[in-house]
Amino acid sequence: MAFCGVDLCGVKLIMVLLVVTSFMSFIPKGDAADDKLLGASFIFGDSLVDAGNNNYLNTLSKADSTPNGIDFEASGGTPTGRFTNGRTIGDIVGEELGIPNYATPFLAPNATGKNILYGVNYASGGGGILNATGRIFVNRLGMDVQIDYFNITRKQIDKLMGASKARDYIQKKSIMSITVGSNDFLNNYLLPVVSVGARITQNPDTFTDEMITHLRNQLTRLYQLDGRKFVVGNVGPIGCIPYQKTINQLNENECVELADQLARKYNAKLKDLLTQLSENLPGSTFVYANVYDLVMELITNYKKYGQYAGIIPCGPTSSLCQDRDKHVFWDPYHPSQAANVLLAKQLLDGDTKYISPMNLRQLRSL
Ligand SMILES: *[C@@H]1O[C@H](CO)[C@@H](O)[C@H](O)[C@H]1NC(C)=O
Ligand SMILES: *[C@@H]1O[C@H](CO)[C@@H](O)[C@H](O)[C@H]1NC(C)=O
Ligand SMILES: *[C@@H]1O[C@H](CO)[C@@H](O)[C@H](O)[C@H]1NC(C)=O
Repeated sequence: MAFCGVDLCGVKLIMVLLVVTSFMSFIPKGDAADDKLLGASFIFGDSLVDAGNNNYLNTLSKADSTPNGIDFEASGGTPTGRFTNGRTIGDIVGEELGIPNYATPFLAPNATGKNILYGVNYASGGGGILNATGRIFVNRLGMDVQIDYFNITRKQIDKLMGASKARDYIQKKSIMSITVGSNDFLNNYLLPVVSVGARITQNPDTFTDEMITHLRNQLTRLYQLDGRKFVVGNVGPIGCIPYQKTINQLNENECVELADQLARKYNAKLKDLLTQLSENLPGSTFVYANVYDLVMELITNYKKYGQYAGIIPCGPTSSLCQDRDKHVFWDPYHPSQAANVLLAKQLLDGDTKYISPMNLRQLRSL
């Protein structure tokens, strides 16, 4: 019962009701087989949402050993490649939107046949917007490659449904979520030694401009492949994660200002980019997920959310703790499942402070 604080139980009940309501408002179109498909979730990004792709890569960025996944019910607690103790934000959002299966990792052998109609997950630990990001891990899928892979899936969906139904399904029933950018700072621009040269030739403004230029191109490609409903996360307060506190020997309520400044600079440009794309690409909706403010709120006021253990990571670098639902962070970089539940709740049902111009429940029913 540790998990079931009064607030969380209340939230769960509301979520169940909302899911039931959205099932009821679903109006079947097309043939019987397709009616069962409630929609798909195509997930792009980094280790915050990787659901196992890196298990199939020769990489230093892996989460295929215990205690990762210890609270992941669908696997009975065995590691799946998720960089947390349980579900990622991508998993939770998919569940709440009524999609029957977690989006299958693109590189998994079962990412074939009807499985792909519920969505596919292309995210990869260490990946970023820029190709060079994460090269210290030897291997990872950057965004350019993730979109090449979606192009492959796109053709498979054409084969499964027929071209015109497939287009309709992607445009109207699918949500494209993009959670990326942290590694472009942590595992590229801010890397000690490796990136000192890059920081001399590129100031924060030119570097974040380069990120935005690439992301514009990547999102436009997804639009060309019929993506219409997008949610793009901004970069969290990467100066305040436990990793920074350790390497920079900070006190509990201190953060690395340069890292947070870079994130805020990029985030402001991202917000403008999404507004422009929504205006310029007919029929598209780009939703901005304000992960920065959400995570900052959780880090600052964790007690209010029942996460009394604060930002001290739980496993797997330190000793595995029993009260995992009371920790904001699972490891020095990644939120715990309990934090992911709180974050996902705001993205699904929150107001424009955290998710704008609409929340994910509204995006889905557009
Ligand atoms: C596909 O395989 C992965 C990895 O073994 C598993 O986690 C997932 O549940 C499977 N997905 C489906 C739709 O069967
Ligand atoms: C990034 O890498 C991919 C695949 O290796 C390549 O297709 C793409 O052109 C590269 N992008 C840039 C900007 O170099
Ligand atoms: C998808 O792949 C086809 C080749 O199969 C290519 O012509 C097209 O440009 C690709 N689309 C995008 C958006 O990458």
